[in-house]
Order: sequence, then structure tokens, then C-alpha cells
Amino acid sequence: MKALVYHGPGQKAWAEVPKPELQDDTDAIIRVDAVTICGTDLHILKGDVPAVTDGRILGHEAVGTVEQVGAGVKNVHPGDKVLVSCITACGSCRFCREGRYGQCLGGGGWILGHKIDGTQAEYVRVPFADTSTYPAPPGISDEALLMLADILPTGFEVGTLNGEVGPGDVVVVVGAGPIGLASIMTARLYSPAHVVAIDMADSRLEAAKQFGADTIINNGVDDPERVVADLTDGLGADVAIEAVGVPETFELCAALIRPGGRVANVGVHGTPATLHLEDLWIRDVTITTGLVDTNSTPTLLRLITSHQLDSSRFVTHHFLMDQFLDAYDVFARAGDTGALKVVITQN
Ligand SMILES: NC(=O)c1ccc[n+]([C@@H]2O[C@H](COP(=O)([O-])OP(=O)(O)OC[C@H]3O[C@@H](n4cnc5c(N)ncnc54)[C@H](O)[C@@H]3O)[C@@H](O)[C@H]2O)c1
Ligand SMILES: [Zn+2]
Ligand SMILES: [Zn+2]
Repeated sequence: MKALVYHGPGQKAWAEVPKPELQDDTDAIIRVDAVTICGTDLHILKGDVPAVTDGRILGHEAVGTVEQVGAGVKNVHPGDKVLVSCITACGSCRFCREGRYGQCLGGGGWILGHKIDGTQAEYVRVPFADTSTYPAPPGISDEALLMLADILPTGFEVGTLNGEVGPGDVVVVVGAGPIGLASIMTARLYSPAHVVAIDMADSRLEAAKQFGADTIINNGVDDPERVVADLTDGLGADVAIEAVGVPETFELCAALIRPGGRVANVGVHGTPATLHLEDLWIRDVTITTGLVDTNSTPTLLRLITSHQLDSSRFVTHHFLMDQFLDAYDVFARAGDTGALKVVITQN
């Protein structure tokens, strides 16, 4: 079969590799029908995630058709159309029993395209198939479902839910990539009074407006502290969601928050950020961090089947698998191409 193979920083190839086989009786082999690329895959290609080694097939998001299952798989059957979650769950360790699948101690967590071969391939082996896949609901397109593999649960759980967005809140989202947009989209479910999006790319700010931001700020041009102070009688935002992953944007969130407010960090950080406790200690500020657990997936599935959320709006570009390198190129130049999520299909 063909797959997108990582060969060290800056090096990747769409290459012929052996088709995966069942290894454990809880595995499924899944034909990948639709797959996408994540900002985290770009981090890997920059060498920011050293656990990913030469020869690894990338990708942790997919919608596919089950081809084969191990003897221990009970709920997933050959021929089923399923969502493959970015988080694999053993289902029985302490953290899985608490719904904290991202921290799975039994061999799950974020493993696809990280510690084991991933989804950017014609076929993928998915461990713990019963607890790591979801049946596709009828009437939902593959690409709409695909947005529930990573970005929607991440923006929802690590942004909106950790930030405890509530009715009447002023919510600031720093970073209007797919994750920040997913936070904006799901924050809207809670009737905030005002949503502010901050980014340095105008194309992303335009998208933020479409996804429900009331005010957009290009922080390369305007001063977000002044704009947010004007909006909040000088108090600051109730919730600030960090969806970039660099020190400046975390520090900006801490500067924008009101006393008693919540900073929810979603971004993956590769370098230290400064926590200004000398300013924060007296202000009752809550700061959360998190790897997505995907325990909100059942809720998100109901929200898309009942048309409360239109997840297909993230999809800006389509490719076939033999154009995988072009898909990476368009996604990596999002500022120029306007790409949010690119969808790559087998046919
Ligand atoms: N916590 C988790 O479980 C989890 C899961 C998935 C992704 N992530 C992380 O979330 C972050 C966002 O992901 P994404 O796919 O939306 O990434 P992305 O790169 O598509 O979007 C980031 C956005 O931040 C903007 N930006 C960059 N520097 C900025 C600055 N100084 N000020 C304001 N805006 C700036 C960019 O213009 C871009 O629009 C990444 O760090 C990603 O690795 C975290
Ligand atoms: Zn991801
Ligand atoms: Zn577990």
C-alpha cells in the first residue's frame, strides 16, 4: 500500500510500504476513506516531536471502512464505516475509567502517527478498536465526520470546556487556526456576550468572523489589551483561550484576563513561557492545560447529526491520496492558500 512516511525533520515521502496486519486481538485494520493533516503534523516535520522516528507513517485523524478485526473486538465489524479518533483508549486503565483517554496508561493515548504508524495511508491498524473508533452516523459525510477526529474535540474540551465558557461571557481566542475556530464554534453554544478572535493572519481573522467572532484583532497591527479593555470596562476577558503554542500568546492570554477569569491553554508548546505570578497571584486567575481526551465525541456526534454544528465548514481543500505532497504544501502555506482543513480521499 501507499503511505505518507516521515524520514526525519523536513523529510517526508508518499511511498510504497507493507500493508498493516493484526497484531493484537483487540486491533482492527481499517481502509482509510478520508484523512486530513493537523498542525501537529507540521510540528513533527519541523522536528519538534522527537518521539516520532524515521520511517513512521504520520496522521492521527481518519474516517474509514473496517476491513478486518481481531478475535477480541466485539462492537466493530468488517464493512462498518467508522471515525478513527486521534486518541486511542485501552478502556480499562485508571485514566480511561475516568474518561481521561488522552492519559491512557494501557498503551493508548496519542499513539497514531506518533508512537505507532498513523492514518495518512491506504490502511491503518487501530489498536483497542472497540474504544478508539465510533460508528459513522447515517447521513453525515465522511469529511464532516472527519472533523470530529481531533479539531472539534480539542477546541471544545481543552478550550471551551476547560475555560468554562458561560452565558454572557467575554471570550478571547488567541490563534484562529482550525483549533481556535473550533473553540469559537463551540463557545457559541454557551451564548457568550462577545467573542474576540486574535491572529496575525488576516485570512484566518476573516474565517474567525465566519465562525462567530464578533470582534477580530490583528495583533501585528492593533493592541489587543486596549481593545479588550475597551470592551470590558477595563476589567479584561472572562475567558482567554490560547490556540497557538508560542510563549507570547500564552503571556498575552494572561495579560487579557479579568480577576477571577480563566485562561485555557490549548497550544502545544516547544519552549518555556513566562508565568507572571507576580501579577497574577492576587487576581484569582485559573489556568488550565490539556491534551484532548476525546470524551466529548459522543456529544459532538449528536450536535452534528442534529445540525447544531456544521463541521464541514472547516474543509477548504480536497485532494486524492496520490496528491498527498501537494496537500501538505497547501496546508503548510495556510496564510497564502486560505487552507483550514484539507481532506485527502482514497478515490
Ligand atoms: N492540546 C491538544 O490536545 C492539542 C491538539 C491538537 C492541536 N493542538 C495545538 O493547538 C495549536 C493550534 O492548532 P492549529 O491546528 O489551529 O494550528 P495553526 O498553525 O493552523 O493555527 C495557529 C494560528 O495562530 C496564528 N499565530 C501564530 N503566531 C501568532 C501570534 N504571535 N499571535 C497571534 N496569532 C498567531 C497563526 O496565524 C494561525 O492562524 C497548535 O499548537 C497545535 O499543535 C493542541
Ligand atoms: Zn492533531
Ligand atoms: Zn487506558
